[in-house]
Amino acid sequence: MEIHVYHGPNLNCLERRDSSQYGTQGLEAIDSSLVELGEELNVEVVARQSNSESELVGWIQKQDKDGLVINPAGLTHTSVVLRDVLELAEYPVVEVHLSNIAAREQFRRQSLTAPACLGQISGLGLQSYELGLRAVVKHLRA
Ligand code: DQA
Repeated sequence: MEIHVYHGPNLNCLERRDSSQYGTQGLEAIDSSLVELGEELNVEVVARQSNSESELVGWIQKQDKDGLVINPAGLTHTSVVLRDVLELAEYPVVEVHLSNIAAREQFRRQSLTAPACLGQISGLGLQSYELGLRAVVKHLRA
């Protein structure tokens, strides 16, 4: 079973972002933890980051995975395009956020993309991704 993890814009610069929201771990450390968890769960984890909405759309359109964990980052709050492509996905998708978007600025409280996903996990740092991965795998195995 192959599960993809897509990180949206600016998540490649985590070390330079607000550590009170995003913690101190960089993306490489997050990805290694997810690959490790994947081994434990007996699934292959493929993690990628893009700053480009169009590249993310291309990846999501491909049916080359069994499930997806996605942090659309800032595009969560703005992208009808990502919402539309997520609605086309024929595999389960869980949206995750490092920070608690419900407790932040008003503009971050709305997710345009979450309604097209199985569910959303927010505010738990790395654990948001880990729980997202577990949820996708459990859904596929149910
Ligand atoms: C984020 C929250 C978004 O509001 C923000 O634009 C991000 C990261 C998170 O993981 O907490 O880039 O998705």
